[in-house]
Amino acid sequence: MIIREGLVEAEVPDDHGVKGPGHRESGFYNAAQKLNRDTTICFLNTVRPGLALDAFGGSGIRGIRFDREIGIKTVIAENNPRSVSMIQGNVARNKSSCTVIQGDCESVMRDFLFSFIDVDPYGSAMPYIDSALRNVRNHGYIGVTATDLTALTGSAEKVTRRRYGAFLTVDDLKHEKGVRLLIRAVIERGAQYDRAAVPLLSFWHSHFYRVIFQVSEGAGRSDQLLEKIGTVNINGKDQGPIWLGNMESGEIIDSLNVPDHMKEPGDVAGFIRSLKNEDICPLFTDLRTVCSKLKTDIPKVSSVIERLESMGHIVARTHFSPTGIKHSASCSAEEIESAVRSN
Ligand SMILES: C[S@@+](CC[C@H](N)C(=O)[O-])C[C@H]1O[C@@H](n2cnc3c(N)ncnc32)[C@H](O)[C@@H]1O
Repeated sequence: MIIREGLVEAEVPDDHGVKGPGHRESGFYNAAQKLNRDTTICFLNTVRPGLALDAFGGSGIRGIRFDREIGIKTVIAENNPRSVSMIQGNVARNKSSCTVIQGDCESVMRDFLFSFIDVDPYGSAMPYIDSALRNVRNHGYIGVTATDLTALTGSAEKVTRRRYGAFLTVDDLKHEKGVRLLIRAVIERGAQYDRAAVPLLSFWHSHFYRVIFQVSEGAGRSDQLLEKIGTVNINGKDQGPIWLGNMESGEIIDSLNVPDHMKEPGDVAGFIRSLKNEDICPLFTDLRTVCSKLKTDIPKVSSVIERLESMGHIVARTHFSPTGIKHSASCSAEEIESAVRSN
C-alpha cells in the first residue's frame, strides 16, 4: 500500500505497524515511529549536517524524508535485498537523490565519512553503537533509537545486567531511568575511543527511546561526561548506574528551525520545546506516588505546579508521565506534599 508521511509518499507492506514495534518484514515501516522521524528532521534542519546515513533503511522513508523535506544529502543502507528494491522504488517515486547501498551498514559507515548517522535497528542499538561512534565525523551526530525497553527499564533484570551492566526497579520513573541508562551506555562506549557523546535531544515515546548525540574527539571531554554517571537511591534501593547530566540541548531547542510543512498547532515543535523542562532536574516526581503515600486522590497537576511556583520554585510537566513534575532542587518533598494536600 501507499502511505504519505511528511512530504513523502512511499510503498510499504499492507500490514505495516501502526502501534507498537510492528512486524519484522521487508520494506519495514512503522507509523508509530513518525514522531521519531519528525523530531529528527527538525533537529537536522537546525544543525544542517553534511552527508547523512540512514543506516537501517526499511522502506527508505527516513532517508528520503531527509533529502526531500530538508535537502540533506543522504545515503540509505539496507541489508535485505527485498527491502532494497522497495527503497529504490520509493526513491524513484519521490524523485529523490538519495544513494541506496545494499549491504551491512557497519561497512558503509567505514567506507564514507558521515556527519550524521541514524541508528534505527530492530531491538537494541548497542551492537551498532561502536561503529557509529568511531566512524562519524568529529563534531558530527548520531541518532540512536532503542526498542529493547524491557532491558532498559530493568523489567528483564538479567538482560539489563548483561547488556547494560545496571540494576533498575520498574516504577513510575522507569522511562526516564531507561533513557538515562541508554545515554550512559553510549557515553561509556564513546569514552573507550576518547570520543565524547553529548546527548542533545532525548525522549521516550510509545515503544521506543530516541537520543541524538553530538560526538567529538577528546579524552578530557569524555572524562567530564563520565563524572556525571552515577547511581540513585530510590525507595532505599541503589539503582543504575545511569546518566545524571542534562539530556537536552537548550541551545538547539531555542534555535529550532522547524520546516514550514511541520508548523501546525499541536505539532512536533511543541513537543520538542517541552523537552527543555527535562533538564530542570534528573528524575521527576510522580504525583501518583506522592498521593499513594498520602492516601489521597491525584489533584490537578497544573494546580500543584502553580502552588509550587508561587513558593518561588521552578516547576514544569515532564513528558515521561502525565502526573509527573520536574522541579528545582530548592523544592523539598515536604513542600510537594503540602502543595498536593492544599488542592
Ligand atoms: C527498524 S527497521 C528500520 C526502519 C526505518 N529506519 C524507518 O524509520 O522506517 C530496521 C531495518 O534495518 C535492516 N537491517 C538490519 N540489520 C542491518 C544491517 N546490519 N545493515 C543494514 N540494514 C540492516 C532491516 O532489514 C530492516 O529493514
